[in-house]
Amino acid sequence: MLIKQASDLTENDVTPQSAYLNRRHIIQAAGGLALAGAVPRVFAEDQSAPHWLDQKVDQTVFRSVTTDEGMTDRADATSYNNFYEFGTGKGDPAKYADNFNPYPWEITVDGECSNPGTFDLEAILSGSTATEERIYRLRCVEAWSMVIPWIGVELGKVLQQFEPTSDARYVAFETVHRPEEMRGQRSRFSFIDYPYVEGLRMDEAMQRLAFLAVGMYGEPLPNQNGAPIRLLLPWKYGFKSIKSISRISFVREMPPTTWNLSAENEYGFYANVNPEVDHPRWSQASERRIGANGDVERIPTRMFNGYDEVASLYEGMDLRTFF
Ligand code: MTE
Repeated sequence: MLIKQASDLTENDVTPQSAYLNRRHIIQAAGGLALAGAVPRVFAEDQSAPHWLDQKVDQTVFRSVTTDEGMTDRADATSYNNFYEFGTGKGDPAKYADNFNPYPWEITVDGECSNPGTFDLEAILSGSTATEERIYRLRCVEAWSMVIPWIGVELGKVLQQFEPTSDARYVAFETVHRPEEMRGQRSRFSFIDYPYVEGLRMDEAMQRLAFLAVGMYGEPLPNQNGAPIRLLLPWKYGFKSIKSISRISFVREMPPTTWNLSAENEYGFYANVNPEVDHPRWSQASERRIGANGDVERIPTRMFNGYDEVASLYEGMDLRTFF
């Protein structure tokens, strides 16, 4: 993968590429594991990304957002997950997502826009600019966090292709509904309803940090991390970052969101990371950072997860009320 620094970054802003395994090393590592009989199914032939996506990830040319914080190991970011469609245990997504087939993939776009339709992922990505790499902090509402290098495209640039009208005040997202491939969606004991849904105000969606990822650690996204395309909103709690998106709707009214539907006093629509507003059952003042080499450290949580540039989106709002 080619990673050049964006023109506005200094050399020091760029974490060496060697800080994580690149594609070729991962393939070697998978080969090594295969000898031990433990090769993850994401590397199996029938799960592999189509050539065009593989190339798009491989030809990522610049890193536009970064951090000097130590990156979480790929092994941890791909084995400690929340993806209830595959089960509620942190290890369930990696264990049970192997029967999920993310390719080919279509996204239906509807609502208040001039260019609705059902589009191949390839068409959506080819209409956007080149893929870029962004190293983002991911802060889960459960008070653990990671630092992950994602590859993808800016959400706003993708949304513009569909020409939202002035009636589009919000954008809603939906995860694919495939109970035959997603055991969590078949479960009688599930305490969230499917499909998983999320939403943003339009100005939040157009903020430059809002990102659609198709890869991580120089590889197409593994199923357990939301293949083939998922949202990332690094200033919000992780549950806003909806995985395996199959529908995008431009709407006039604030759309329902999965965790808010399940417990409205615990999970708000905005879900901005805020150390001063505790979850009713635990403090949000600090977090358990799962960092490099699997090291776990308790660190203070920062307002907007440290992404201060989003603050102007919420000027004049009481963030205790609009949590
Ligand atoms: N998207 C769907 N469709 N289903 C989920 O259960 N979990 C969310 C979010 N997106 C979830 C989802 C939560 S709670 C978090 S913290 C992040 O995904 C976790 O992303 P990761 O597993 O890649 O770390």
